[in-house]
Amino acid sequence: MSFFAVFLSSLLSLVVSFVFLPRTLRYAGQLVGQHLRHSSQKRRELLLARVAAEQRTYDAERRGKKDKEDEDWEEVEASTVGSAVNGGKADSDWSGIVGFFHPFCNAGGGGERVLWAAIRATQKRWPEAICVVYTGDHDVDKEQILKRVKERFNIHLHPPTVHFLYLTTRHYVLSSTWPRFTLLGQSVGSIILAYDAFKLLVPDIFVDTMGFAFALALSSAFFPNVPTGAYVHYPTISTDMLDSLYEGGQGVNAGSGEGYRGMAKRQYWQLFAKLYCKVGSTIDVVMANSTWTQTHIKSLWSPYRKLRNKTTDHDIDIVFPPVAVEDLESAIDVSEESEKIRGPYILYVAQFRPEKNHQLILNAFASFVASNPSLPAFPDEKPKLVLIGSVRDSDDATRVYNLRLLAHELNIKDQVEFVCDATWPQMLEWMGKSSVGVNGMWNEHFGIGVVEYQAAGLISVVNNSGGPKLDIVVEVDGKKTGFHADTADEYAEGFLKALSLSPWETLDMRKRARRSASRFTDRGFADKWLENMGKLVALQVERAKVQE
Ligand SMILES: *[C@@H]1O[C@H](CO)[C@@H](O)[C@H](O)[C@H]1NC(C)=O
Ligand SMILES: *[C@@H]1O[C@H](CO)[C@@H](O)[C@H](O)[C@H]1NC(C)=O
Ligand SMILES: *[C@@H]1O[C@H](CO)[C@@H](O)[C@H](O)[C@H]1NC(C)=O
Repeated sequence: MSFFAVFLSSLLSLVVSFVFLPRTLRYAGQLVGQHLRHSSQKRRELLLARVAAEQRTYDAERRGKKDKEDEDWEEVEASTVGSAVNGGKADSDWSGIVGFFHPFCNAGGGGERVLWAAIRATQKRWPEAICVVYTGDHDVDKEQILKRVKERFNIHLHPPTVHFLYLTTRHYVLSSTWPRFTLLGQSVGSIILAYDAFKLLVPDIFVDTMGFAFALALSSAFFPNVPTGAYVHYPTISTDMLDSLYEGGQGVNAGSGEGYRGMAKRQYWQLFAKLYCKVGSTIDVVMANSTWTQTHIKSLWSPYRKLRNKTTDHDIDIVFPPVAVEDLESAIDVSEESEKIRGPYILYVAQFRPEKNHQLILNAFASFVASNPSLPAFPDEKPKLVLIGSVRDSDDATRVYNLRLLAHELNIKDQVEFVCDATWPQMLEWMGKSSVGVNGMWNEHFGIGVVEYQAAGLISVVNNSGGPKLDIVVEVDGKKTGFHADTADEYAEGFLKALSLSPWETLDMRKRARRSASRFTDRGFADKWLENMGKLVALQVERAKVQE
């Protein structure tokens, strides 16, 4: 069969099988799957042989010299193996191939951090398993990629059991390839790319970490026995987008749902949304990176997943991406001793950008000061607001100037300190000697800065919205880790509450805040990831048995 015949028939069978689900077409998809499996069998054997050879070399070298890196590897290995919820050490000898679909694996952003942290956790939990990354980065080889992962993220992968397979059709998923109907185009592109991937190697478990849900659907059409997993950072189409097309909607597409063109656009989006929902119902295990993403994905996928019985014990789980909180934890003490260093300082770490709402925080602080608060914990010191942020250009500089004027007008000039372009040690110093961390932004999707406050033991006062409310400043053991506010007055009240807690309450809350931040560590991520990966491994084992 020629490439195009195979490709076209498979594409067609996929699309049609979603619509009508006739047995014959599903069967056709599986035939193509068998063909792919057969034709990539040789490469699979070669890969296994190569892994075995690399492992032998690695062991031999290791016997010779025991360097720091190896010790790290062993240390974490010992602590993670068997810690997963699903079955302790019993299935740690699972030895399949996990395919990670991540065509831009060398990009070095937050999404890549998730990929590498996931692979590291998987390697340690299942040392016999092989992780394969499907990538389109032809200009770098394995050694270069692993080196960059080490330097950029401080993640040490075990070289023998991670491998890279190079895709040749990556341009199909670039938005520039599809100037019109971009959403649909990119999705078709991801199907082409996935086909390309399966020609190289059919994995035993297929995981997408870039949001290419259509690639996963192709996998389950071709290989019903291969469990699929998705880590979703952002829904491809969101309910906000659909709503925005209607009258009274907000955002870039507001009101564009009117008229003839608008109607066509609405139809197109709705059709796409429907396809996306169907595709979502084929995925076995779904993880979302935050409550916001989970809510959106649930509202799209769950109704269809219920129909397919995908929700019984595999519902959509939140797996927070790892944030580097360990650095703060090790640099900053939270104890009775360190309470003596902390003053009545309120810290706001944010770029000087309009949406960060510095003005409101200044106003809130002014009304807090004007209320003449008595703070028994700090008898000899006046409260202080510390604004730390980077000044990138003259716009930022102007904003800082205006904020200084405002502080002057509000008569709080002496109690407000601006720290522009702080160095990391300066940051750490302020984190260690402040009491409260504040965030003024409305509806922030996440809020890494707030996680950092918590890691440093600061009591947070944040807007009652978005990620800071839903994900970060939440209760631990049924008790608060900070305060939520909607208006300047409520912020002022929050400052008062946070600074007038009794000494033991204060220390308790700081400790809870730090525990809250531990959900966002590498360790917290690894635990949640392995819980979900465990479901995929169990499914793989189960389905392989049925097949026999
Ligand atoms: C989830 O991913 C989106 C898109 O990359 C990002 O904007 C958001 O901050 C992420 N959430 C978390 C909790 O990191
Ligand atoms: C889902 O589960 C129910 C009850 O267990 C069963 O009757 C139904 O046939 C299942 N549907 C599918 C598509 O497997
Ligand atoms: C805080 O969030 C609320 C919604 O919960 C919003 O109405 C308000 O404007 C926000 N306040 C600030 C200062 O951003």
